[in-house]
Amino acid sequence: MDKYSSAPSGPHRMARGLRLEATYEAPPNIALVKYWGVRDRELALPYNSSISVTLDRLRSRTTVRFDPELADDRVELNGEPAAEGPRIGVVRFLDRVRALAGVPYCAEVRSSNNFPTASGLASSASGFAALAGAATTALGLHLSGRELSRLARFGSGSASRSVFGGFVEWRAGTRPDGSDCYARPLFGPDHWPALVDVVVIVKRAPVKEVRSEDAMQATVATSPGYRRRQSELPARIRKIRAAIGACDARRLFPLIMEECDSFRDVCETTRPSLDYLTPTSRALLGEVRAINREEDRPVAGYTHDAGAHMHVFTLERDANSVRRRLANLPGVERTQLLRPGPGGRPVT
Ligand code: DP6
Repeated sequence: MDKYSSAPSGPHRMARGLRLEATYEAPPNIALVKYWGVRDRELALPYNSSISVTLDRLRSRTTVRFDPELADDRVELNGEPAAEGPRIGVVRFLDRVRALAGVPYCAEVRSSNNFPTASGLASSASGFAALAGAATTALGLHLSGRELSRLARFGSGSASRSVFGGFVEWRAGTRPDGSDCYARPLFGPDHWPALVDVVVIVKRAPVKEVRSEDAMQATVATSPGYRRRQSELPARIRKIRAAIGACDARRLFPLIMEECDSFRDVCETTRPSLDYLTPTSRALLGEVRAINREEDRPVAGYTHDAGAHMHVFTLERDANSVRRRLANLPGVERTQLLRPGPGGRPVT
């Protein structure tokens, strides 16, 4: 019995001329409404819907080559053989794609990011979206965007959103079989040209001790505020969707800060506590609040993932002054200006 004996034995889609090799690119995204909590681990179904912005200029590029001659999967990340943990994640994902296509071949996977993996910009979203695109294209599966987002979430939940560009909603759905759980584009990358994301990379950001998929389940099980957060989310999601639709920064920035504070609160009240921030990250939160207070309007809105770096959204006209102010805080390594960008795409 080989390790793919669970794959359907149906017709291999090995039509003559199928290249078995494909390259795909996908960008990272930053969540404005956070995915945090899984209701079904087997099917990778989240408790709540989430909304993100796909970021321009950054990407993972992944080439997958299936080869009947290979005895094992080979995985290379940024030019180095992958460490055991990430390798297992990739192999499991390939198993899923092989089962879908009814193809037993092992593969060679080469993936690289055009941004440092340690830069605080989540590479699992871009990495698994690119892997999903490359592996399915190589096996001639021709999935729609919706099907690709459904598949990508099995690698990493947030990867379901990197399939699409611009502003994206990953719908949690309610059906037990997950058939209504997928990401969909809300508004394209050109919807709100004035919106920018000042990414602030802080020094000495701690390496995550607990993987997000385990950390979020600890929150579900132990944070006293988790249920309340869940009950607040549908209304917040509606408001955030509407503020993005209207390109209304005055409404959006306070809402994304409220959402980020709610996410941070359930993390910090998890037992044992999940504390992702450094003193510099906390100073950045305070600085954004101070800017808004001094100007007496929502000039900017912060958000962060399960990490110490910050994404501060503002409008083009305020971008330079906000960026300068944040860059001057002690402990800031560097800042980068990003914008909404296109989603995953094949590289020909
Ligand atoms: C805080 O999608 O990285 O960034 O599914 O375990 O890989 P896994 O988790 P992942 O978690 C993302 C958590 C978050 C919020 C978000 O991106 O929605």
